[in-house]
Amino acid sequence: MELQMVLFRMLVLVIMCSVNPFARASEVINSSCLEDCGNVSIPYPFGIGNGCYVGDWFEIVCKSSNDSYDPRFLKPFLKKFNREVLDINITASTVRVEYPIFSSCTNGMESTNNSELAKAPFFFSDINNNFVAMGCHNDASMRSIFPDPSISYGGCKSPCDKAPFTYGSFCNATNCCQTAVPSHLHAFSTVIEPKNNGRSDECNYAFLIDRNWFETKFTKPNPNMSVPVVLEWGIDNASLYSLPTVKNSNLTAILEYNSSMAYYCSRPQITRIGDSSAPRCRCNNGYRGNPYLLRGCRDIDECASAHLNRCAYEERCENTEGYYRCVPSNYKSKKPFIIIGVSTSLGVLFLIFGGWWSYKVIKKRRRVKRKEKFFKQNGGLLLEKQLSTNNKDNVENIKLFNSKELEKATDQFSADRIIGHGGQGTIYKGMLADGRIVAIKKSNIIDEEKLQEFINEVVILSKINHRNVVKLLGCCLETEVPLLIYEFISNGTLAQYLNGQNEKFPPTWDMRLRIAIEVAGALFYLHSAASSPIYHRDIKSTNILLDEKYRAKIADFGISRYVNIDQTHLSTLVHGTFGYVDPEYFQSSQFTDKSDVYSFGVVLAELLTGEKAISSTGMRDTKSLATFFVSSMEGNNLFGILDSQVLKEAEKEKIITVANLTKRCLNLKGRKRPTMREVAMELEVIQMSQRASNLKQKYGEIEDVETEISEQYDVTSSLDSQSLLLST
Ligand SMILES: *[C@@H]1O[C@H](CO)[C@@H](O)[C@H](O)[C@H]1NC(C)=O
Ligand SMILES: *[C@@H]1O[C@H](CO)[C@@H](O)[C@H](O)[C@H]1NC(C)=O
Ligand SMILES: *[C@@H]1O[C@H](CO)[C@@H](O)[C@H](O)[C@H]1NC(C)=O
Ligand SMILES: *[C@@H]1O[C@H](CO)[C@@H](O)[C@H](O)[C@H]1NC(C)=O
Ligand SMILES: *[C@@H]1O[C@H](CO)[C@@H](O)[C@H](O)[C@H]1NC(C)=O
Ligand SMILES: *[C@@H]1O[C@H](CO)[C@@H](O)[C@H](O)[C@H]1NC(C)=O
Ligand SMILES: *[C@@H]1O[C@H](CO)[C@@H](O)[C@H](O)[C@H]1NC(C)=O
Ligand SMILES: *[C@@H]1O[C@H](CO)[C@@H](O)[C@H](O)[C@H]1NC(C)=O
Ligand SMILES: *[C@@H]1O[C@H](CO)[C@@H](O)[C@H](O)[C@H]1NC(C)=O
Ligand SMILES: *[C@@H]1O[C@H](CO)[C@@H](O)[C@H](O)[C@H]1NC(C)=O
Repeated sequence: MELQMVLFRMLVLVIMCSVNPFARASEVINSSCLEDCGNVSIPYPFGIGNGCYVGDWFEIVCKSSNDSYDPRFLKPFLKKFNREVLDINITASTVRVEYPIFSSCTNGMESTNNSELAKAPFFFSDINNNFVAMGCHNDASMRSIFPDPSISYGGCKSPCDKAPFTYGSFCNATNCCQTAVPSHLHAFSTVIEPKNNGRSDECNYAFLIDRNWFETKFTKPNPNMSVPVVLEWGIDNASLYSLPTVKNSNLTAILEYNSSMAYYCSRPQITRIGDSSAPRCRCNNGYRGNPYLLRGCRDIDECASAHLNRCAYEERCENTEGYYRCVPSNYKSKKPFIIIGVSTSLGVLFLIFGGWWSYKVIKKRRRVKRKEKFFKQNGGLLLEKQLSTNNKDNVENIKLFNSKELEKATDQFSADRIIGHGGQGTIYKGMLADGRIVAIKKSNIIDEEKLQEFINEVVILSKINHRNVVKLLGCCLETEVPLLIYEFISNGTLAQYLNGQNEKFPPTWDMRLRIAIEVAGALFYLHSAASSPIYHRDIKSTNILLDEKYRAKIADFGISRYVNIDQTHLSTLVHGTFGYVDPEYFQSSQFTDKSDVYSFGVVLAELLTGEKAISSTGMRDTKSLATFFVSSMEGNNLFGILDSQVLKEAEKEKIITVANLTKRCLNLKGRKRPTMREVAMELEVIQMSQRASNLKQKYGEIEDVETEISEQYDVTSSLDSQSLLLST
């Protein structure tokens, strides 16, 4: 009985696996582009980040609705209009956005301009939207903005009170009317003219709305609400030549329908309003996928499912590129023959499955053994012990991922998913089944010591919950080398940011200061972690990651240690990165909180000068930035070594304060360096007076400046209690 069940399940599984027509292909132009934001998939020509979208109109920004970093609260927005995107449909050339409704709670005529799409290759869809007016005797209409505002594109008058109005399904209620939207509506003004002579105290509303949503989800209007509206889009002339499909071909040829191509593009007919000749592309019949990507339209296997082809029962279906054919099978249809045939083939099938099944069972048992072995070898038992001896509650925060899940997430650890090489491993970008983008760190080597570092990182990160520290989601011990799974941080490292040419968000003085404060705050938090301080031991600009809003996140806790106060800080080997290592630690092998302060001082020097911590080229006569920085300051040449952006933007006084702080951090004697707490506080004070002077420049009003300062000071004094909260 059980065997039968197992066989049956396996049969179902086999069938499902072999003809899975829903396997999702990549819909982005470059594997380093995000496929999703929140729950919304973002297919090309739309995209998030440079090089991921076809033109400015299609740029999506993925941002959090509040300040939480939780990927569940991320939402996509069309950058040009700042409208939230609900979904994008490539086949229908539509994008659904949240659009505010227009309301008037007075009794006079009121109007609003909807002109953001005037020059866009987008327009309000006539197929999917309705124009709805609500209120008592509300006479609402869509009108032209330019050239003649009296031209009406349509409208309706809502009845009042218990009028038996039955149109559509929701608007069957009272005080509501709806009408169709003209085609290719780019810009219009919504006009409300109440005709109720002040008899109603309700507000009047007029808005476009996704018809389907209106009929199924709409409940009650309120003046501040937004509703889904469907926009149709095409590719604007300026972007057309950037499409990969056009780049590799000839635009004229693509705009001519050719049945032997996998896709075609066309300019919709202009009917009434506006110019909407922006072309859109489609996959040809027999193909599906994304027509804006090279080879994005893939052949449909019509033979995979009976409802996709029209082959007769006794015909055999053969798939061809773009179509299929039905081949007559020429065997005699004699009943007994068929029965014998069926039963023997069933028998054979059963035998095959039996054999295959026992093979699978044996293989599976071996695999389980292997996994167990790896788990032990990778320190799984050690980790379990560590986590359970430290704190029971935290064990649940760390998820143990299984290896299959991660192979799937990274395309079998394909080389084009590699996003970096960390201290002890290679980092891959992956997408979990639930759509979360993660970074997966695969250790390089498995010797005892690296293993220790690995376990260390898991244990330490499982305790830390700070917004400027990269979050560990879990780990996987079932593979040959252990894997760590982190939240994905999208904007690379601070080192890349300082050295690269980011034209969009160049590292301004304000940003440098903010990043310094964030890193200092996180280090202060680690150092002051209530029961046992954590030293990072490898602070450097390549271990500071930047998220989509360029907020700093400290990564790579491989060689960090908890410090039990009663233990000595002696370790046999000096860890760290040349150029950042505290010279005192180098000599004494004694790592203290001040060693992290030194490394942070080097990062500060990098922020000020834009120079690398170690460099054999450039203007310096010494390889180490720390030495160079301190000697330049002592030689009164600070302003000769600063980054030009810093020189341009920052006040001299502020620069000098930060430089002095840097110099103190880089003091050769650990005890003369400030603590991380002092560093964080001093940086905050500098930022505040910076804000105050920005304000002064802007308004020149002393009173305002003072209130700003005192409010801001409250923030500093709350730093301690905030950190304490975080560390519990
Ligand atoms: C993908 O993007 C990365 C980073 O922008 C770039 O280096 C790489 O060349 C791109 N790959 C392709 C195939 O365009
Ligand atoms: C963000 O909003 C969600 C609900 O929308 C809430 O659960 C979460 O706590 C918020 N996070 C912050 C940091 O405010
Ligand atoms: C995504 O979907 C999940 C489950 O359906 C839901 O709980 C979550 O709130 C959604 N997130 C967003 C940003 O819509
Ligand atoms: C996109 O639109 C087409 C045509 O209206 C529809 O058949 C398809 O289901 C839609 N796709 C999604 C994902 O909603
Ligand atoms: C709408 O635009 C027209 C033309 O630019 C302008 O005259 C009018 O004041 C605008 N109306 C509103 C409500 O902004
Ligand atoms: C309006 O239509 C909905 C759905 O068709 C129905 O449930 C409801 O009773 C109707 N309301 C009125 C007032 O006719
Ligand atoms: C609408 O927003 C205004 C201002 O933001 C607020 O005063 C008002 O209470 C809101 N009304 C509703 C119904 O939410
Ligand atoms: C785009 O190009 C087509 C063909 O050259 C032209 O007919 C159309 O007016 C152009 N559209 C815009 C907005 O420039
Ligand atoms: C592009 O294709 C059209 C029609 O297929 C052809 O007439 C034209 O010569 C081609 N142009 C180039 C530059 O190949
Ligand atoms: C249609 O496309 C095929 C394959 O790309 C090409 O060989 C053929 O010349 C095209 N026909 C026309 C009329 O452009």
